[in-house]
Amino acid sequence: MTADLFQHIGDLRPSPEAMVEGAVLLRGFVRPVEAELIAALRAIIQQAPFRHMETPGGHRMSVAMTNCGGFGWVTDRSGYRYDALDPCSGKPWPSMPPVFRELAAQAADCAGFAQFAPDACLINRYAPGARMSLHQDRDEIDFSNPIVSVSLGLPAIFLFGGLKRSDKPQRFRLAHGDVVVWGGPSRLFFHGVAPLADGEHGLLGRQRINLTFRKAR
Ligand code: SIN
Ligand code: FE2
Repeated sequence: MTADLFQHIGDLRPSPEAMVEGAVLLRGFVRPVEAELIAALRAIIQQAPFRHMETPGGHRMSVAMTNCGGFGWVTDRSGYRYDALDPCSGKPWPSMPPVFRELAAQAADCAGFAQFAPDACLINRYAPGARMSLHQDRDEIDFSNPIVSVSLGLPAIFLFGGLKRSDKPQRFRLAHGDVVVWGGPSRLFFHGVAPLADGEHGLLGRQRINLTFRKAR
C-alpha cells in the first residue's frame, strides 16, 4: 500500500507548459528526486569547485561554473569548447550521477524527445546580481538533441528569444525544481538570464544553481 502510494506520488508530475515552439516548461519536475539530486551536486562541487571563467573577449563571467559528465563546457581566452578534462585540476570532470542522467532523460521524454542521453552537464551558480547575456547553445555536434535545463534555489527570470539576437525575448519565471526543455525548432534560440534578485532559499541559501544537460559529442 505505502509503496503503491509513493509510486503514484512519483507519477504526479504536472503537464508540460508550452513556452515557444519546441520548448516546454515542466514546473516542479525535480521535486521527487530533489534531495538525491542536491546531495549528488554537493559531491560534484567538492571535486570540481565553481570558478568564474573568462570569455574569449577577456571578461570574467558573473556566473560561476563547473561541470560533470564525459565532457565539460569551458571558456577561456582561446574560445568556447567542450573538454574531457577540468582545466583547473587536469583531471576528468566528475562523472554524471545516475540521478542527473535519469532526470534529464525523463524530462526530455516528457517534452517529446525520446532517448536523450546527455554526456555533458554544465553547472551554473548565480549569486545575487549575476546574469547570463543572450546566447545560443551551439558548441554541440548534433542539434537534433534538446537542451534540458534544471533550476534550483532562488527564482530567476529566463529570457527566451528567437533565432536572431535582436528577437525580443519573452520572460519566464523559473523557480526551484522547474525544468525547461528546448529543441527542434527552438534548439538554437537565443536565451539568457536576467540579473538574479537577492533572496534566501530554504535549501540552497542566497544562490541559484542551474544544470544544463547536453549531448555534446
Ligand atoms: C545557460 O543558458 O547555460 C543557462 C541558463 C540558465 O541558467 O537558466
Ligand atoms: Fe545556454
